[in-house]
Amino acid sequence: MGLHAHIGSQVFVAGFFTQAVEALAPFVNELGLPELSIGGGIGVAYVEGEEAPSITEWGDVVRAACADAGITARVSAEPGRSIAAQAGLTVYRVGTIKDVPGIRTFVACDGGFIDNPRPALYGSGYETFLPQAVAADRTETVRLVGKHCESGDVLVPEARVPAGLAVGDLIATPVTGAYGRTMGSNYNSLGRPAVVFVRDGQARVVIRRETDQDLLATDVG
Ligand SMILES: Cc1ncc(COP(=O)(O)O)c(C=O)c1O
Repeated sequence: MGLHAHIGSQVFVAGFFTQAVEALAPFVNELGLPELSIGGGIGVAYVEGEEAPSITEWGDVVRAACADAGITARVSAEPGRSIAAQAGLTVYRVGTIKDVPGIRTFVACDGGFIDNPRPALYGSGYETFLPQAVAADRTETVRLVGKHCESGDVLVPEARVPAGLAVGDLIATPVTGAYGRTMGSNYNSLGRPAVVFVRDGQARVVIRRETDQDLLATDVG
């Protein structure tokens, strides 16, 4: 049918897709294949200082590369993260704050690696902000951790937050719309949180919070 490549994920340099097209084009053209898929992998910015190409910039680069390489095959792509990641954020409630003098302040929340395993799996970075004070200066650095009773349950090792963060406050990590829930688990038999779509001040639950009954649903005896 054609050729497919997925050159990697979190690709911040659109020109790397040009290199992929250049590598694949001779095969597609010489074999007269009807399709070339250039995979996904367009990066998204998670933390301050990261810059990613927009989907438009990436599309322009891919189209130009295909034109230059004389591709007449149908060109398809499989972007995942770049579509969904920035559409989502995760909202946690602060459960405990523990200051260890001279070491750090731990802020434990009601989620963790069951809703976002990426930091624990491979050290992915996230920013933090308080929904009740979105524009506030984030002058304090704390360690945002989960509730799953494991030393690896760290969501944001160096989370910047405004002064005065208190138990019961909401704290959010943006850019969790991709590879968060889909990689989540029921670790320690805990239910996963709800997914809520929000637009123009209107909210609707699209996936409800898991219940104990859900967790027992596959038990047969
Ligand atoms: C074959 C293939 N296509 C597309 C994707 C989507 O990647 P991304 O979400 O980085 O765009 C992946 C992710 O691993 C993949 O393995």
